[in-house]
Amino acid sequence: MEKYLLEKSLNIKGDVFIEGAKNACLPILAASILSNGNTIIKKVPFLSDINVMCSLLEEIGISIIKDLKNKYIQIDTKNIFNKKVSYDLVKQIRASFLLAGPMLARFGKVSIQMPGGCAIGVRPIDLHLKGFKALGAEILQEHGVIEINAKNRLIGTEIYLDFPSVGATENIIMASVLAKGTTVISNCATEPEIVDLIEFLNKMGAKIEGGGTETIKIKGVDSLNNCEHTIIPDRIEAGTFLVLGAATKGELNILDVNCEHLKAVTSKLREINVDIEEKDNKIFVSGKNIFKNVDIKTMPYPGFPTDMQPQFMSLMAIGNGTSIINETIFENRFMHASELGLMGANIKIEGSSAIINGVEKITGAKVKATDLRAGAALIIAGLCAEGISEISDIYHIERGYYNIEEKLKKIGAKIRKIKE
Ligand code: UD1
Repeated sequence: MEKYLLEKSLNIKGDVFIEGAKNACLPILAASILSNGNTIIKKVPFLSDINVMCSLLEEIGISIIKDLKNKYIQIDTKNIFNKKVSYDLVKQIRASFLLAGPMLARFGKVSIQMPGGCAIGVRPIDLHLKGFKALGAEILQEHGVIEINAKNRLIGTEIYLDFPSVGATENIIMASVLAKGTTVISNCATEPEIVDLIEFLNKMGAKIEGGGTETIKIKGVDSLNNCEHTIIPDRIEAGTFLVLGAATKGELNILDVNCEHLKAVTSKLREINVDIEEKDNKIFVSGKNIFKNVDIKTMPYPGFPTDMQPQFMSLMAIGNGTSIINETIFENRFMHASELGLMGANIKIEGSSAIINGVEKITGAKVKATDLRAGAALIIAGLCAEGISEISDIYHIERGYYNIEEKLKKIGAKIRKIKE
């Protein structure tokens, strides 16, 4: 088992280059199912989740050529066929269910296993299925397998989402692009990753309007063509390094970012008294000031992202006064609180709220990355704690942070991977 060993590393300094967004790349890879021929996707973050999605596509006959050095993928769908993909791959990433929409659109039917729950909550797929049903598909769920059958072609309709789910919005968009007539989805998610997916689909010839707003209109077309697309910057990787720079009292230049996508994060950091300077596609962060306490409520975009909540909890834990986090997106996303507690943080959980009393110092301990962003929070804490911290289950972290060890070493962080 691999672990990270971390030592206190204050005043880290330097440049951090941000990768393409994992959460934009996953649905875009799934959407390539809809193309006829070759698609090129640039700025691909070659993370384990992306590799699993590529393997899923290869199982249905899609040819994938990866250029790791230049960070692009070439996709050829000419030999695509319909098949139930293997559960061994499906269960590894929740985003595997994003195959359902495009396969349903392309083949008129799809059979796929439930992606299962995960550490941060139950994560049902009822909203995805409600959307497919509204488009005219019949759904049969038995023994963990979902059979979705459109009989003929899906038919455009009006769909209201009970909650602006990111995945459901993406899946329903991908199902509707080849439907007969027009589909209007209201109360949909407005995340930048959805806007990126829409841009990719429109480049292939889809007719989608309203990306980034709560109402998306999709005029069905008969087929989609090839295209070339560059993935947007990963706002969560960027946000993580912003918090890390602040927490370690360092000075970092975060490069290749979209500042617009990070407004909720940068304004909260400013509220904490962190210096932030934004210019073009770069953000400078400095954590030299005395921190103030702050309250956070996670919300769908453009609200504060749930994927940044654990990292902020680490920052608040070493801050001043009492801060409160209200987690409204996932019902079980405070597993990092008890791990931070092992390091001496003072955090109480009451239902969907975490009450964090800043302490003067935290100390290194043996802790476990319970999920991806929880792991990122522990890295931040480990770099601020006295002594040595040991983080286990780091495969979670590597699902979402490309080359994190090298990137951290380059800016002066004391981190080392060990095998046991
Ligand atoms: C995506 C992101 C994830 C992020 C999350 C919220 C990807 C690959 N993952 O996940 O990193 O934390 O958005 O910003 O892009 N829900 C239902 N029924 C459904 C679908 C969702 O009840 O059919 C609930 C979920 O249980 C959760 C909430 O809606 O409580 C938000 O989930 P959703 O927006 O769908 O997140 P994901 O797309 O899974």
